[in-house]
Amino acid sequence: MIVAANFKTNHTRETAAIYLDALELFLDTSFIDCDIRVYPPLTALLRADLYSHVKLGAQNFYPVVSGAYTGEIGSHQLGEFGIKNVLIGHSERRVTLKETQDLIAQKYAFAKENGWEIIYCIGEPKDVREQGISAVLEYLWSEFDGIDMDYERLSVAYEPIWAIGTGVSAKIKDIDEISNILKSKLGNTPLLYGGSVNSENLSSIISLSSCDGVLVGNAALDVANFCKLIQIAQNVKK
Ligand code: 13P
Repeated sequence: MIVAANFKTNHTRETAAIYLDALELFLDTSFIDCDIRVYPPLTALLRADLYSHVKLGAQNFYPVVSGAYTGEIGSHQLGEFGIKNVLIGHSERRVTLKETQDLIAQKYAFAKENGWEIIYCIGEPKDVREQGISAVLEYLWSEFDGIDMDYERLSVAYEPIWAIGTGVSAKIKDIDEISNILKSKLGNTPLLYGGSVNSENLSSIISLSSCDGVLVGNAALDVANFCKLIQIAQNVKK
């Protein structure tokens, strides 16, 4: 079971360090066998080897080692922190930052060449959801263009855009329907759900047979709350 926290543009270097210390302490003193990942902002990255229970990852990178790419960071910079774990294709980067499928596929290929662990995000906007399941699936499949779905260090996160940061998670039966279809294509690749996951809905989401974990934004920003989510995930018997 993967329980991952995406900080997005929240926390500073100082508060992220306090958060991670508290999280390590919790994991050190609890019997948790979930795969715990945290994606702080790039300015708050810390050395990944400082943490033995948490995998630290990067929310973003540019698919180069180094060079003239003002404002970006490449594998040289991530390497300094020992980061081998990245998010790719998040809807906020696709929609707000205008990342194209072509750039996303380049980032994916680069991450794969480096042997990094990838959480690859997909998810449909509200107007597509309103057109029904075939439109949703067509949209989601298009987000796999240029993506090697057989990469062994891949997890996929299904995050319907209309459920992100809105406090309105998708209905359990809808998550179940889409997850079953995605999983039939993904085989053994872990499938996560994201979009307004919280301590109330987490247990029913991860009890779904096709759900292998969650990618959490808002509800993971407070470390005590994230620890609570981890404990709930741990308690679900699958
Ligand atoms: P929220 O949990 O805040 O809806 O964010 C989900 C998300 O985008 C995680 O990547």
